[in-house]
Amino acid sequence: MSETYGVGDASYRAAGGIDGLRRLVDDFYRYMDELPEAAEVRALHPASLDSARDKLACFLSGWLGGPRLFAERYGAIGIPSFHAQWPIGPAQAEAWLLCMEKAIAEQPYAADFATYLLAQLRVPAQRIVQASGARHGH
Ligand code: HEM
Repeated sequence: MSETYGVGDASYRAAGGIDGLRRLVDDFYRYMDELPEAAEVRALHPASLDSARDKLACFLSGWLGGPRLFAERYGAIGIPSFHAQWPIGPAQAEAWLLCMEKAIAEQPYAADFATYLLAQLRVPAQRIVQASGARHGH
């Protein structure tokens, strides 16, 4: 069934709700741990990914039109400005997106939703690169 992703909570439901998002994020960080291409990005994170896992799943919930779990639990966040503490260039963004692409491919998502979700994630990833470049002077 085709739905208009981005309207209401259609994307959140297509992702399988919070349980589906937690599975996506678990797979995402597993790829970040395993893929050589992602080693540099992995090294920006602390040894334990437990907090990052919970925060990203909660963020994606609200971002995809579901419950605003990140805001409820952790408060407000601006994604580009938060990430500007690290030098994140196009290569780091591509490595992050590669982990997402592989994780998305493992989910039982409709093909059009898988394509939509990866395209949507590119938008904040590019804003992070812009904000990081502005801050770190490249
Ligand atoms: C562009 C490549 C990206 C890199 C290299 C990156 C890297 C990081 C790192 C190192 C952390 C800190 C983890 C920790 O301290 O446990 C983090 C946290 C986070 N990232 Fe990213 N990230 C990227 C893209 C994104 C995107 C596109 C989103 C949203 C769609 C996102 C959402 C988050 C959230 C919600 C947190 C937790 C914030 C907090 O600790 O309060 N990230 N990211």
